[in-house]
Amino acid sequence: MKIEDLILKAKEVLKNSYSPYSKFRVGAAVLSESGKVYEGVNVENSSFGGTICAERSAICSAVTYGERKVKVIAIASDQEEYIFPCGICRQFIAEFAEDDTVIVCSNSKGDYVQRTLKEILPNYFTL
Ligand code: THU
Repeated sequence: MKIEDLILKAKEVLKNSYSPYSKFRVGAAVLSESGKVYEGVNVENSSFGGTICAERSAICSAVTYGERKVKVIAIASDQEEYIFPCGICRQFIAEFAEDDTVIVCSNSKGDYVQRTLKEILPNYFTL
């Protein structure tokens, strides 16, 4: 699957973001090892700490269907700036990542930059 198509999948679900508090809509699409795509959005909560980011939401969806490896994860928002995963999501991605796992950070125009997990979270924690 082309990177641009994965970004489109992340953009498609933006409309379903549940973000009444921040009004900051985020969508994510995971390309798993099996070649299937799993999307997710941010889901906020009135108790703000209960909020889940789009990246974790998409990974939870993939794991629910038996996936254990993320090959690529694309992130989309309505913002002009590229969106990068928060710290918690970086660690969450690491749990299901390979050395070559790619994180695609896009902007509202559909431009993107890509990074490997190691670039954005070196020396991450593992057990
Ligand atoms: N958010 C994400 O979904 N992904 C990120 O990488 C950063 C932040 C969400 C959480 C919250 O609903 C809103 O964006 C503002 O922080």
